[in-house]
Amino acid sequence: MANTSENGVNGVAPGDAADNMADVLSMTDGRRYAQIVGWGCSVPEKVITNKDLEQIVDTTDEWIRSRTGIEERRVVTDPKETTATLATEAARRALAVADVHPSKVDLIICATSSPEHIFPATACLVQDALGAHNAGAFDLLAACSGFVYGLGMARGQILAGDVEYVLVIGSETLSRIVDWTDRNTCVLFGDGAGAVLVAASDVPGGILTTKLGSDGSGGDALIIPAGGSAMPTSLETVSNGSHYAKMDGKAVFRFATKAMASATRKVLARTNMTVDDIDLVIPHQANLRIIQSSVLKQLKIPEEKVFVNLQKYGNTSTASIPLALCEAIEEGKVNPGDNIVFVGFGAGLTWAAAAIKWSVPVEARKAGWWKQTRRQATYQAAAARSMWRRAVRWAQAVLPTDPEGRPIHTDDPRKMPDKTDDNVNGKEIEPETAAGAEAEDRSS
Ligand code: ACO
Repeated sequence: MANTSENGVNGVAPGDAADNMADVLSMTDGRRYAQIVGWGCSVPEKVITNKDLEQIVDTTDEWIRSRTGIEERRVVTDPKETTATLATEAARRALAVADVHPSKVDLIICATSSPEHIFPATACLVQDALGAHNAGAFDLLAACSGFVYGLGMARGQILAGDVEYVLVIGSETLSRIVDWTDRNTCVLFGDGAGAVLVAASDVPGGILTTKLGSDGSGGDALIIPAGGSAMPTSLETVSNGSHYAKMDGKAVFRFATKAMASATRKVLARTNMTVDDIDLVIPHQANLRIIQSSVLKQLKIPEEKVFVNLQKYGNTSTASIPLALCEAIEEGKVNPGDNIVFVGFGAGLTWAAAAIKWSVPVEARKAGWWKQTRRQATYQAAAARSMWRRAVRWAQAVLPTDPEGRPIHTDDPRKMPDKTDDNVNGKEIEPETAAGAEAEDRSS
């Protein structure tokens, strides 16, 4: 997997930025805020250019560039590379930037339009791979608006006082759900993942507000018709390609230009800001013309304040905003004190904007070998823990056990063991055992 921020930001990592970060986050003024303290992204190595697409469908580089601004996109090629693996890598990088141990994460929200499965949630697979055994995890389906929706959920949980750290991830392998014979859609999308770690903080600022919107009457404009309960997968749905994304591009275009401008205005009004107060807009990276028409033309925000990287990645749906955020940070376009707006739209129809007062340092120094080794060991331990849990489940399935998973110490399988007997394998996966591991991790 390629890394657009291998060692954090500006080639640095992050672990040591934590010293700065810790100073900032320890300043108290009595209120609770939700700050983005870590960020990371991950994209597949394989690049597909517009010229490559000319070989696959009836299109031209000129058409794609002039109608969308896209020049190339990344796609997964290895079957082992999935939405969950991209998400895990991005999340690890976000945790590294913040120098936060996975055991401290309380919630993982994975926004995705191309989940690993309908269930289990991709977020749960990420939780397992991170060894984030204190975290709740769920997927969020609001298409390309999903990442900003996730920020809204994270902020709400933090301000309610229920959690301290939330990982919000946008991850996609859209190349696996688009029809590579349909030029209307396949030229637009790409694969990738981005993640942020949102932390409870006393420092004023962070995610100030979010505005979430939806209009289900436009659901048909961008839809995967089959594979859900409305049209279960069948030989027919597969043969007529109903399991691929279908789009009315013009309808989505019209909706997007209005929704982006209106959602941005709403978060500005809520935070008593005007467009002049904005330092940076990170819009959903779907089509340069949509960004030009909504952010530049309707809102009159100057081009230099709008971050665009869709020429390199295409539309990566939920991943596009966090992926752009990582690159904006790398390019030095995000600075403490900046007012930043994230704004997106997508299938549903949905739209969402967030106003952020960036309040944490973005510079970082190289992490020492010890921190890097310890981090690596943490993830190896997570993999070992996962294998152990699978082994215990397997043992419980093949060995005679009572309904609670404890082995039956008798030749007569109908006779249940003494409930007070603690010397049983089943204890290994009981919640209290996980709590013990948590105490161990937190103390390390
Ligand atoms: N190469 C060449 N020609 C093409 C291609 C292509 N890749 N794709 C479509 N065309 C043709 C069409 O067949 C059509 O031809 P026709 O007029 O002979 O029928 C013509 O180009 C369409 O031209 P326009 O409608 O003028 O194209 P438009 O300027 O609307 O651009 C586009 C199409 C790029 C799809 C645009 O409408 C768009 O970006 N819409 C928004 C899509 C979007 O953002 N979707 C993602 C939402 S986010 C989410 O939830 C995943």
